[in-house]
Amino acid sequence: MKALILVGGYGTRLRPLTLTYPKPLVEFANKPMIEHQIEALAAAGVTDVVLAVNYRPEVMTAALKDYEKRYNIKIEFSVETEPLGTAGPLKLAEKILGKGDAPFFVLNSDVTCDYPFKKLAEFHRQHGEEGTIVVTKVEEPSKYGVVVHKPNHPSRIDRFVEKPVEFVGNRINAGIYIFNVSVLNRIELRPTSIEQETFPAICKDGQLHSFDLEGFWMDVGQPKDFLSGTCLYLSSLSRKGSKLLVPASTPYVHGGNVMIDSTAKIGKNCRIGPNVTIGPGVVVGDGVRLQRCVLLKNSKVKDHAWIKSTIVGWNSTVGKWARLENVTVLGDDVSIGDEVYVNGGSVLPHKSIKANVDTPSIIM
Ligand code: GDD
Ligand code: MG
Repeated sequence: MKALILVGGYGTRLRPLTLTYPKPLVEFANKPMIEHQIEALAAAGVTDVVLAVNYRPEVMTAALKDYEKRYNIKIEFSVETEPLGTAGPLKLAEKILGKGDAPFFVLNSDVTCDYPFKKLAEFHRQHGEEGTIVVTKVEEPSKYGVVVHKPNHPSRIDRFVEKPVEFVGNRINAGIYIFNVSVLNRIELRPTSIEQETFPAICKDGQLHSFDLEGFWMDVGQPKDFLSGTCLYLSSLSRKGSKLLVPASTPYVHGGNVMIDSTAKIGKNCRIGPNVTIGPGVVVGDGVRLQRCVLLKNSKVKDHAWIKSTIVGWNSTVGKWARLENVTVLGDDVSIGDEVYVNGGSVLPHKSIKANVDTPSIIM
């Protein structure tokens, strides 16, 4: 089978991290976001993946060559000269996706869940119609695309409303689809939206179905949701008894859901958790308190720092007794001075912060 991943643009909502790496390469639970998806696609029997990008893909080439080998899968870039939206890229990749007559998967690059590819393909084959979109329930549906079902039909979608202003329902598009190749005939090669144009057209013909997702789901395309998504993902690993987590009985682990790369160093008398990921080469000093946070590769947290709801970027340093909280995000190579307090700061790469940041702001 084949799959297309909508890798898209500059990931501006995940700045300052995406000033250094494209969104798909930002590590989510110590593994690039795109690798989670490629791994799951390969496990479901996908052999060809198209990455739909609209900027130069060179930065990603090395990592993806590695995944081709590791997951025994073919990965091709489909590069847009202008952003083609969420449907145009399917047309651009028509030669690959339309080869043969097997249905293909499409996914947004910024969603995390227990990818249900096998069950989804099975369900899609059973109903035999043009498209199936994975749906999940959320409390705030206005941020997403909402599906409204045909009365008395469990899965056939009547209407698809992208970012509804008024409440129409709470089952939303999870950003994971499977289509028959015939969908390509509906799409023109121009900037066009799958949510605004393609879905309504398929609905009109009664050919669009929903598939209910089990378990957690999150769009991790912005820092607040990236942190929430990390918590959900770690909780799910914990329920499965995953060996990727540090045993909850470890003395410094507090409340569980802690993932630490084997090359990271943890000091004495720390209190880590719940919901923390610590990347390769990270050094955590003594008496450090970490909760609900992500420490990316080669970052350093000095003695007695207190960090909550924060993403510490690659190669950054947090000073002694510093306190970071409220969705603070440090870009690459940021330095936070000793005893400095940062409340919801978004700090651009290579900055050195020596004074408190008392209110949420961007520090350039
Ligand atoms: N190749 C390419 N070209 N990809 C694009 C383009 C483009 O011009 N524009 C957006 N994308 C990619 C993004 O990188 C992302 O992976 C995906 O398309 C969806 O775009 P977002 O910008 O993240 O959309 P959203 O989060 O506001 O809404 C979408 O996702 C929700 C679920 O998270 C919609 O599909 C909603 O209906 C859905 O509920
Ligand atoms: Mg998104």
